[in-house]
Amino acid sequence: MIREKVATLIWYLERPPLYRELGRRITNFRVTTKRERERAAADKDAGRAWCEAHRAEHAELLEALGIDAPLQTLAEAHPDWWQQAHDAVNACPVKMGGPAATDLLYHLAKHLPAKAVIETGVANGWSSLAFLAAMADQGGGRLISIDMPYAKMKNEAYVGCAVPHHLRGASWSLRRLPDRDALPAAVAELGTLDLAHHDSDKSYDGRMFVYQQCWERLRSGGLMMSDDVEDNLAFRDFAGRVGRKPYVFYKKPGNYSGALIK
Ligand SMILES: C[S@@+](CC[C@H](N)C(=O)[O-])C[C@H]1O[C@@H](n2cnc3c(N)ncnc32)[C@H](O)[C@@H]1O
Repeated sequence: MIREKVATLIWYLERPPLYRELGRRITNFRVTTKRERERAAADKDAGRAWCEAHRAEHAELLEALGIDAPLQTLAEAHPDWWQQAHDAVNACPVKMGGPAATDLLYHLAKHLPAKAVIETGVANGWSSLAFLAAMADQGGGRLISIDMPYAKMKNEAYVGCAVPHHLRGASWSLRRLPDRDALPAAVAELGTLDLAHHDSDKSYDGRMFVYQQCWERLRSGGLMMSDDVEDNLAFRDFAGRVGRKPYVFYKKPGNYSGALIK
């Protein structure tokens, strides 16, 4: 346990851009009590139950956005890029976080259309591929992706590996920093956002931070998407705070993504 903590500390100390995150972790460090662990489990149960009760069909969101193109998957639209992505991910020696709702993100970004996009949480980069492919289809745009690799995972060289090289042009900027350090500057840089996607820090506070930062810069009619919204009740609470209808989509048993239209 102590050896693990020391190894994590060394990992951070070797990365000066992450010193602020290290400071936050040291300041907030405390041993979680049994009661807190039980509360987190109860929040997850409540989050799952809420998602199940609010499940919507993709068609409802598409209709609300005025998108009448039938849903086309990324594999159908760009079979070569899809195959390249799979080959790259299969060749990756490190197992990273699972994909977001890639096909839905691609379809929404393409038809919104989304020219200015922020995403938090990259890992293999399935969601990055979805946004960049949509931008290639609609003749350009800018994606800023934020990802702080997990400590000691040795995956830094592979973050975003699903994105084929020809899509890694001026449209894409990958910032290897925590949300809290990279997001305020990123949203300011893009000015007004068409779409924001959260798939990084899944804690209640981590979600609220990203949702709030992005919502303020989202244009009217823009879209905020979030993955794994069953983890806690942050997505429900944020939808209530901004007074918008939450759209919740089933991904697989016990796993949902969410959307809010500004
Ligand atoms: C579930 S994965 C993202 C999957 C990706 N959206 C996709 O579709 O392939 C989550 C990623 O968020 C990163 N992450 C976790 N906490 C973070 C934070 N506080 N700031 C930035 N990135 C974070 C992790 O290192 C990981 O790479």
